[in-house]
Amino acid sequence: MKILMIFRAIAVTLIGIMLMSLSTGTFAEDKLDIGKIEYEAACAVCHGLTGKGDDSPLKELLVRPVPNLTVLARNNKGVFPFDRVYQIIDGREEVKAHGPRTMPVWGNTFNRQSSIFFENYPLHDRESAARSRILALTEYIYRLQE
Ligand code: HEC
Repeated sequence: MKILMIFRAIAVTLIGIMLMSLSTGTFAEDKLDIGKIEYEAACAVCHGLTGKGDDSPLKELLVRPVPNLTVLARNNKGVFPFDRVYQIIDGREEVKAHGPRTMPVWGNTFNRQSSIFFENYPLHDRESAARSRILALTEYIYRLQE
């Protein structure tokens, strides 16, 4: 009888743990995805929601073809070019292969925006805020790799 009760206690605990992990799984999906939000706000208009560029609403209007952002790792021997992508978003590195840059420079924009968001916080660091947004975006592009 005692053994049965112990088994029942273990079973109930296991089911509890399973249910808890299920619900944290759901929470994890609902978590704020900063990279995705930034991407959809600033990049999808040209690069498309999938990053492939084929569903870009501006595709026909752009002078240069929009690159497929999901093959950056594949085109770099399987290694995602993290620093290059970071620099391209930031705007300090020109996209040389395509001649003059047609993509907007985001480093300055993010830096200026953060000074508006945090102007009441005397110790805020604009450059850190800009960098964390570029990092979130770079990490999101990494997740878009096929
Ligand atoms: C106005 C349209 C436009 C917007 C908005 C835009 N891009 Fe681009 N992007 C381009 C074009 C066009 C290129 C091709 C290179 C060039 O001509 O500048 C490019 C190139 C790139 C590249 C280099 C790809 C390669 O093959 O090396 C990356 C990475 C990139 N964009 C990421 C982003 C991210 C992230 C955002 C949002 C923060 C963004 N782009 C916003 C048009 C845009």
